[in-house]
Amino acid sequence: MSDRLLAGKKVLLGVTGGIAAYKAADLASKLAQAGAQVDVIMTEAATRFVAPLTFSAVSGRAARVDMWSEPAGEAIPHVRLGTLADLAIVAPLSANTLAKLALGLADNLLSATLLACVAPLVLAPAMESHMWLNPLTQAHAEALRARGAVLVGPGSGHLASGASGVGRMAEPAEILAAARLLLAQGGPLAGRQVLVTAGGTQEPLDPVRYITNASSGKMGVALAEAARDLGGRAVLVHAPLSVALPYGVQSVPVGSAVEMRDAVLSRLAETDILIGAAAVADYRPAEVRAQKIKKEAGDLTLRLMRNPDILGEVAACRREAPRLRAVIGFAAETQDLRANAAAKLAAKQLDIIVANDVTEAGSGFGADDNRVTLLYREGGEESLPLMHKSEVARRVLEAALPLLA
Ligand code: PMT
Repeated sequence: MSDRLLAGKKVLLGVTGGIAAYKAADLASKLAQAGAQVDVIMTEAATRFVAPLTFSAVSGRAARVDMWSEPAGEAIPHVRLGTLADLAIVAPLSANTLAKLALGLADNLLSATLLACVAPLVLAPAMESHMWLNPLTQAHAEALRARGAVLVGPGSGHLASGASGVGRMAEPAEILAAARLLLAQGGPLAGRQVLVTAGGTQEPLDPVRYITNASSGKMGVALAEAARDLGGRAVLVHAPLSVALPYGVQSVPVGSAVEMRDAVLSRLAETDILIGAAAVADYRPAEVRAQKIKKEAGDLTLRLMRNPDILGEVAACRREAPRLRAVIGFAAETQDLRANAAAKLAAKQLDIIVANDVTEAGSGFGADDNRVTLLYREGGEESLPLMHKSEVARRVLEAALPLLA
C-alpha cells in the first residue's frame, strides 16, 4: 500500500556485512511497497550473506556493490546517489562501517556515497555485544548522533554467535517508523504539540477489580500516529491499550479518569491541539476497598460517583492555555447520533466533535474501521464513509489544521 510519507521518495539503503542482512531484504521490500524508489548499495561483506539479486528483485532496481563498474557516461554513482537521496538508511550497520562513517572514510561505494549524502540518515547497528559496547564503537555512535543521525537499536536478544545480549538489529518495522518520523519533519504540525487521549479508563473497585469499557485505544493511537506523520509532537495519554504503542509518540500511561484528567491538565500549557478519543468512565465506585471483595458477603450493591468531565474542565481553564487552538471531542452514541453529538459539542465548548455511531458492525469500539461525522462549532458537518481508523485520524487532523492559523 502506498504511503503518504514514503511514496515517491528516493531512499538509499546501505547493507553491510552481518547475518541481519537477510532482514534488510524485508526492509527494502517494505520501502518499495510503500512507494519509495529504493537504491540498495551493499558492501562486499554484505554479499557474503545475501546476494545482490535478492535486493534487485525486491526493490525493482539494480543493487550496487562496486564503485568502479558503472557504465561509461553515467554520472559518478556515489555523488549522484548521495546527493539525490531524500533519505539514507544503513541496515544492518556493522562496527566497521559505523567507524568509517564516524571518521569520514570513503573506501567503498557505500561509505563514499554516504559521505556525499546530505539527506537525513537512519542507522540500524547490528554486531556482537562486545563490539557494540566497546568504547570506540560507542564514541563513533555518539559522534554520528551528534551530527544528526538517528540510531535505531540495537536491541537485545539472541545473537549470531549463539550468545544472548545487546547487538541485534532493530526490526524492519521499527527502522521504517524511524524513517517515516524523519521524513515527517517540517510537516504542517512542525513545532506543535498534539495531545490525544485513548483507551477505556479503569475505575478500581478493589485491588484486583475495576470497571471499564470496550475501548481498545486503536482510534487514539491512530490519531497520535497521524499527528506524528504531519510533523507534530504527539503525546498519548492512555488507559491500557490493546494495540502496540506507536514509535515516536510520547506515552503517558494512566488508569482512571481522575489520573487521565490530571495528566491532560498538567500538559495543557504546551498543547496546541487536544483530541479526546478516550472512552472515559463517567462514574467510579465511591469506595475502593483496600482488600479483595469476598463473595461470601452475598449480593453486592455498588455506589458510583461522577467522574470529572475532562473536556469540560479543559473548557473551564482554556484561557490559561494560550497555545491551545483546537479542542476536539468524540461522541460515541447508540441513538440520536447528531443531536447527542451536537449537545456535547456545545456543552464541552469544543471546536469539533467526531460523532461515532457505535452500533454499526465493523465500526467504533475495538474495530479497525470507523464511520464518523465531523460537526463544527462554527456550524456545518462532514459525514465520512466507513474507513480505516488511520484514515479517519488523518481527516480529523486535517480538519484541525485551519484552527491553528
Ligand atoms: O478505542 P477504540 O476501540 O478504537 O474505539 C474508539 C472509540 C469508539 C472509543 C472512539 O472513537 C470514541 O468514540 N471515543 C469517545 C467515547 C466516549 O465515551 O464518548 P462520550 O460521548 O462518553 O464522551 C464525549 C467526549 O468527552 C469524548 O471525547 C470523551 O473523551 C470526553 N469525556 C467523556 C467523559 C468524561 N468524564 N470526560 C471526558 O472528557
